[in-house]
Amino acid sequence: MSTASLPVINLDVFLSEPLGSEVATQECRKAADALISYGALIVQDSRVSEEDNDTFLDLMEDYFAQPEEALKKDERPELGYQVGVTLENTERPKCAVDEPCLRVIQSLDPAERPLDISAHSPDPKCRFFWQMSEKPPYETKFPALNASNVVPQADGLRERWPPTMEKWGQSMKDAVKGVAQMAALGLGLSRETFTDAGRYGPHLLAPTASDLKKYGQKDTILAGFHTDLNFLTIHGRSRYPGLHIWARNTGKRIPVRFPPPGSGRYLLVQAGKQLQHLSGGLVKAGFHEVVVNQSTMETIEKKKTTSARRPLIRISSTFFYHLSSDYDLVPIPSLATQAASLRAHDLGREVDEDEVVYQPMKVGQQVQNELRHIALMA
Ligand SMILES: [Fe+2]
Repeated sequence: MSTASLPVINLDVFLSEPLGSEVATQECRKAADALISYGALIVQDSRVSEEDNDTFLDLMEDYFAQPEEALKKDERPELGYQVGVTLENTERPKCAVDEPCLRVIQSLDPAERPLDISAHSPDPKCRFFWQMSEKPPYETKFPALNASNVVPQADGLRERWPPTMEKWGQSMKDAVKGVAQMAALGLGLSRETFTDAGRYGPHLLAPTASDLKKYGQKDTILAGFHTDLNFLTIHGRSRYPGLHIWARNTGKRIPVRFPPPGSGRYLLVQAGKQLQHLSGGLVKAGFHEVVVNQSTMETIEKKKTTSARRPLIRISSTFFYHLSSDYDLVPIPSLATQAASLRAHDLGREVDEDEVVYQPMKVGQQVQNELRHIALMA
């Protein structure tokens, strides 16, 4: 397995140094290069509190430890599960049936391939979607994607829920917006290009939960190999390892490890399909999977003694940053030009789908197309 690590981008430098200063400009360029080469980066943001992440993870463990009947009350299938809970074995990784995606796997060195998803039907993971969007000052053409939030009603959860979700969600949202602005500047665009396009996006705080009592065997796929459909995804530290990402430039599987806490607050950012589309393929959506690997097993064993009273549930602390549903998704010409020259010069050993045409469409349309693929919308 690869031991390569991801570039670390310092958001503090961007926020504290004057715009246009040498050091801030360099950091922005580094963010853009990381997204182009790896499709991912680690961001350091000292505004983010490890304690907020812990409070959030505790609440999620308590929530997902409830019996299924309680969780079912929070399901909203009629809204494409875009708010509330999605129970395990609902979402199907698109890759298992998707030809271009299977070719990506084929193109990888056998030692660097994801766990085999061909026999894997829906993912054994639960998820909760908490919308963190700003209401657009216009009538949206995609109202189902901007629906009201669900607050779980069980005693002991009800009161804790909104403040905890908002606090942690806002930290991740601020960090990912910072990265989006750095990336825009680093790509030669104006600072607000991406954050303006995403101002009214249906951003989601989207923790996933895997029951490690049930699914704790080595090499269990918790979330099969896939890319995300949104613009940028940001993750806080999980209590259990198991997230693998693939860097576009090397085709190597990278087990995600955060630098130890104390030396700063770190979050992982990965590019999604909206960024790929908007950049005409200059930045590619990053492939990833969540599995039970050797380190996950070791952590499970440790937790059985150190946290014996806590639910044995792996929470992934995830936030999806979206572009606004009514935004026109069309490749930005300067980025599409760079993408073409990059293709001409062949960026190393590329993990790539075939050259695709990025059809102009509304972001909301792109999201609906993607949801159909993963069986969340009829
Ligand atoms: Fe994902």
